[in-house]
Amino acid sequence: MPESDFSCVWIDQSDTGDLSRTIHRITPARLPEEEVLVRVDYSSLNYKDALAASGHPGVVQAFPHVPGIDAAGEVVGSDSERFQPGQAVFVTGYELGAQRWGGWSRYARVPADWLLPLPPGLTLEETMLYGTAGLTAALSIDALRRQDVVPSSGEVLVTGATGGVGSLAVLLLAGLGYQVVASTGKPAMHDALRNWGASRVVPREELAGSQKRPLLSERWAGVVDTVGGATLASVLKGTRRNGCVAACGLVGGADWEATVYPFILRGVTLAGIDSAWCPLARRQQMWSRLAHEWKPARLAEVARLTTLDALLERVDQMLAGRLTGRWVVAITDAPESSESGAAHG
Ligand SMILES: NC(=O)c1ccc[n+]([C@@H]2O[C@H](COP(=O)([O-])OP(=O)(O)OC[C@H]3O[C@@H](n4cnc5c(N)ncnc54)[C@H](OP(=O)(O)O)[C@@H]3O)[C@@H](O)[C@H]2O)c1
Repeated sequence: MPESDFSCVWIDQSDTGDLSRTIHRITPARLPEEEVLVRVDYSSLNYKDALAASGHPGVVQAFPHVPGIDAAGEVVGSDSERFQPGQAVFVTGYELGAQRWGGWSRYARVPADWLLPLPPGLTLEETMLYGTAGLTAALSIDALRRQDVVPSSGEVLVTGATGGVGSLAVLLLAGLGYQVVASTGKPAMHDALRNWGASRVVPREELAGSQKRPLLSERWAGVVDTVGGATLASVLKGTRRNGCVAACGLVGGADWEATVYPFILRGVTLAGIDSAWCPLARRQQMWSRLAHEWKPARLAEVARLTTLDALLERVDQMLAGRLTGRWVVAITDAPESSESGAAHG
């Protein structure tokens, strides 16, 4: 049990509705009651975290709030027989960092049912390099495979390809032998996307146009869509017969216009992806794949490293759509530390 105070990201709202975002020091007694106390060594930055850090009412229901939907570290206290002090553990999703305080903190209290032991084949840092984004990419690819979208089926499109989910989806799909087409709004990242395994890159605008036709020419055997909105409408129309679109994101909007034609004329499947409440058995299966047979040789190439004190600036960049890659947050006891190892902004 820590005796002194420690750092966390603290989101608060005044009586007049003004939001404040600070690096705050709190004592362990301030943490909510949960079964397992974890010393957090790594967390990550996801789009949902960026919304939480902005006080988005769809994510944060009460203030003050500590964001961080992912956390990895060491058990320092436990009321659960399943977890012992000294054990390496990690957690992604559930209500962490949303309805409950999360992992952007040196210490976090977590329900035992949400925790997984560190799997063989992964370091704590790698669990956060994947984090919610990696689990989401894995579930999306699994959804395509369940609909018999295999490497020989044809091109698989990844939208929002330079983001956390997108970059990991490109790496994983390429590693599994798929022909990956990456869609991005960042011309400067075309070479990086090819290095990560994309066979070709298409500009974001090519997919988001206002096409009135109910169907487009058949292009995609499968799609991992992190964008939603008009992009989701467009990729559904352009998916090949018996193809599958895994819908996992909404950076481009939550609403979209659709007809039933892709479903009834081409047998297209729209698969919904929810990583937060992924059932335990499926979650364990995905993490085992991510640790072993699906683990990309070039995993570290999409990694960007940051620290708690640099994180709020990164939040703003993420919401502006300017970040690339998958951001890991290294958390130490130091009240002040500086970002290092970030290859790209
Ligand atoms: N369903 C789930 O369980 C689950 C889990 C994790 C994340 N998500 C969702 O997946 C999405 C991506 O999350 P993330 O953490 O990967 O976020 P991220 O790292 O910010 O990536 C989002 C990417 O989308 C593209 N983009 C940004 N703004 C856009 C816009 N206005 N229109 C079109 N494209 C835009 C950008 O890529 P390019 O510049 O390369 O186009 C950006 O890098 C979010 O909506 C998130 O909520 C869902």
